[in-house]
Parts: sequence; structure tokens; C-alpha cells
Amino acid sequence: LIDVAFTGKGLRPADAIVVLDVLRATSTVTQALAVGYRQVVCVESIERAAAWRGPGRVLAGERHCVRPAGFDLGNSPRELTGDRGELLVLATTNGAPTIVAAARYARTVLLACVLNLEAVAGALRGSDGLHHRDVQIVCSGTGGSVAVEDAYLAGRLCAELNGRRTDAARVAEAVARTYPTPLQALAASAGATALRAAGLGEDIAYCARESTLGVVPRLAGTSAGAAIIVEAGQAEQDGGLPALVDDRDTVGAR
Ligand code: MLT
Repeated sequence: LIDVAFTGKGLRPADAIVVLDVLRATSTVTQALAVGYRQVVCVESIERAAAWRGPGRVLAGERHCVRPAGFDLGNSPRELTGDRGELLVLATTNGAPTIVAAARYARTVLLACVLNLEAVAGALRGSDGLHHRDVQIVCSGTGGSVAVEDAYLAGRLCAELNGRRTDAARVAEAVARTYPTPLQALAASAGATALRAAGLGEDIAYCARESTLGVVPRLAGTSAGAAIIVEAGQAEQDGGLPALVDDRDTVGAR
């Protein structure tokens, strides 16, 4: 079954969940892993990020689109041109909390954006050995409401997958067909308007570059309520979950 939730409120148990926040949290996580960060720790709030401070750790995030006071970076994937540490801690308004919430509903949680569209579609089709009967694609949205750029990408991903689909998946596919290019979908969104107003309009075109990265970010586990994201396959290569993952936390509890 291929299903779509247009906001995080629709999260439900599934074999695999794919979380989207095209503008910009999942684009930022994908870019971070692509430039060499080994882990991205997604936290629910700006306040929680501070507890993760430490050597080799870089704090990134946003409040109203811009870098919070005391943080090293904002939430712009353009800022991530090289790894400045082992670990990126990411606190954002909508995307990071949705990623944290998704960890409670599935063992396999992947993150998608336009930058890694083909890589995630390939992983879901099974080329990476992931075979799932029930896939839920979850849009982070904005403030609990649907965001057009996330609905667009959900539709693009659905169109890449075979199988029975829900009406929500069909609606997403219809949205995707409305826009000839990713840039047109992203540029039409309220999120883009907010980014332009904050002087971050260049992020829109940056996040619209289709399948330029081969990285598939994947949930490795949770630690103290944070979601630990690594490149798919890295946990297996390391012979287990990364050191940060706390065994006392449940991973993928249903
Ligand atoms: C979010 O998680 O709310 C977004 O990524 C906001 C942003 O574009 O920074």
C-alpha cells in the first residue's frame, strides 16, 4: 500500500515511513550527510538542541526561517559546503519534530527531498534490499497545515512506486502533475514566500535541484528523545547502530 499523510498529524504505524520537508529540513539533512557529517541528530525544539552541544558537534536550525541565537548555522543546505564536525544537531519548526515523531511508528524511516528523489525511490523499490508492503509518505507541512512543496514531492515519489494506493496518494500525484518542474512547485509555496521575506530566497532553487544527491538518510535509532539519522547502509557497515544510539530508547516501537 502506498499512502500519503499531508501533515505529521496523519502519522500511523507502517512498514516504512518516508518523511518530507522539502523547504528545508530534509534537504538540509540530506546535504549534511552528503558533505560528510556522520550523523544528524534531529531534535524537537531549539531548547533541546543546546543539550547536545559538545566538541565536534555543530548546531543548526531555524526559528521563523533564520538561525537561532547561539546556533552555529541556520537551516540552509547552502551553508553546508563541508563537514565542520562529526555530528550535526538540527532543530527546526516543522521538519525535525515530524522526524522525531515518525521514529515511534516504523522501524524503517527514510528522509526524502527533491535532491535525493531518485535515490529514495530506488530504496523503496527494493534496489537497496528494502522491501515494504505498507509505505506511508509523510509531509511535514507548515504549522500543522499542508505545504504544496511537500505534497508535490509526495506525488512524485508515489508515481515512482508500484502498488495499491490510497486516495491521499492519488491526490498527491495529481498535485505533482500540476507543476512541470520542481522549481515551479517550490516557488509557488507559502514556505518560499517566507524564505524570500527572510532574505533566503536562493534556498528555493537550491532545494529544487532534482536527484543531484545519492544519499538516503535513514533513522538509526533514538537517544533521549532525539532521532539519530545516518546514511542508509552506514549502520550496517559499522557493525551496528552508531555509538550515540541509546539502547534504553525504543526504536520503531508500535
Ligand atoms: C521546518 O522544519 O519548519 C522548515 O525546515 C523551516 C525552514 O525552512 O527552515
